Amino acid sequence: MTEPVLFSPFRMRGLELPNRIVVSPMGQYSATPEGFATDWHLMHLGHLAVSGAGLVITEATAVEPAGRVSSACLGIWSDDHIAPLRAALAFCRRHGGASMGMQLAHAGRKGSVSVPWEKQVALDATNGGWQLKSASPIAYPGRPVPHALSVDELAEIRDAFAAAARRAAALDFDLLEIHNAHGYLLHSFLTPLANARTDAYGGALEGRMRFPLEVFDAVRAAWPADRPLGVRITSTDWADGGWTIEESVVFAQQLKARGCDYVCASSGGSTPEQKIPIGPGYQVPLAERIRTEAGIATIAVGLITEPGQAEDIVSGGKADLVALGRGMLYNPRWAWHAAEALGANVYFPHPYERCHPSLRGSDFLKPFRDAKPAS
Ligand SMILES: Cc1cc2nc3c(=O)[nH]c(=O)nc-3n(C[C@H](O)[C@H](O)[C@H](O)COP(=O)(O)O)c2cc1C
Repeated sequence: MTEPVLFSPFRMRGLELPNRIVVSPMGQYSATPEGFATDWHLMHLGHLAVSGAGLVITEATAVEPAGRVSSACLGIWSDDHIAPLRAALAFCRRHGGASMGMQLAHAGRKGSVSVPWEKQVALDATNGGWQLKSASPIAYPGRPVPHALSVDELAEIRDAFAAAARRAAALDFDLLEIHNAHGYLLHSFLTPLANARTDAYGGALEGRMRFPLEVFDAVRAAWPADRPLGVRITSTDWADGGWTIEESVVFAQQLKARGCDYVCASSGGSTPEQKIPIGPGYQVPLAERIRTEAGIATIAVGLITEPGQAEDIVSGGKADLVALGRGMLYNPRWAWHAAEALGANVYFPHPYERCHPSLRGSDFLKPFRDAKPAS
């Protein structure tokens, strides 16, 4: 049997991932009100780091307090945020087999809501929320009208992204991802549904891309040259008058020319009017088109749940990597089971080796190729 591509290494700059499986960034809404990581993050990132996935990316991590979705979101806007995250990362480094990435984010006009299990209701300054910021004073339906950022305020947010990147480097993350999707701040500059500016940051595509590209340049300059930097984008708004896949290809070409290592092709999030053709692998064609037409590595994400499906995506040249979100929460051992199904070898931590089907009849443990000692 030939080695499955899903379990072959993938190199970006100085980082070699052991396989093509990525744990997609997922907000945990479990940080302290100051945005500090808690023991939940140690458990969440820790158990995914030992899952056999090649790369684990943290949840959207806010570059300023007003960049959070909720007051329980993780932050990286001050040096004080470093130590609590370091504790979680130390576990991942010590026991995990995955490389660790951080997603930097600003929620823009979709911030200041309660946590999902409290229905994400809009909060204002009287009940723990804050003033929203966006490209234009255009509200996301059902939310307050955001403050339209001045050019000086844009420069402050760009600098906050760069400062956050320096903190991520101090934490020794292997990879950084900019969240440019889902209707959050950077995406709200790209999409005509949220950007009605008449200055250099609005209008035609070139103007709408300007702020996201300035942020990318600032982060690239602040992030070590030997470590990969990727961007998660909304590839299409799935809505009339919105951001399109054709514009995403141009944006990806611009990102690539500036030193972007991959694009993660997500979609939607600008408007509740979106019509998403939801189904298995529904965003894979977007990743494939960006990969082919912009010549950049892509991560496919969205309802990728089966090992054979994931293998087809990477072996068929539709994407270089696959990210799983909900499937990983539901079955954090997905990568182990996929390796078994596809006949591949994968990372197991020593203390869990005896659960492997090949060892159940044995009381003597054969060391796995990639295992690290528990200490
Ligand atoms: C609980 C949860 C939290 C999420 N938080 C984020 C996030 O912080 N950043 C992000 O880019 N996407 C986030 N997403 C989207 C996922 O990363 C992923 O793109 C989406 O769930 C589709 O993949 P799936 O079908 O494998 O779950 C979140 C999804 C879930 C289910």
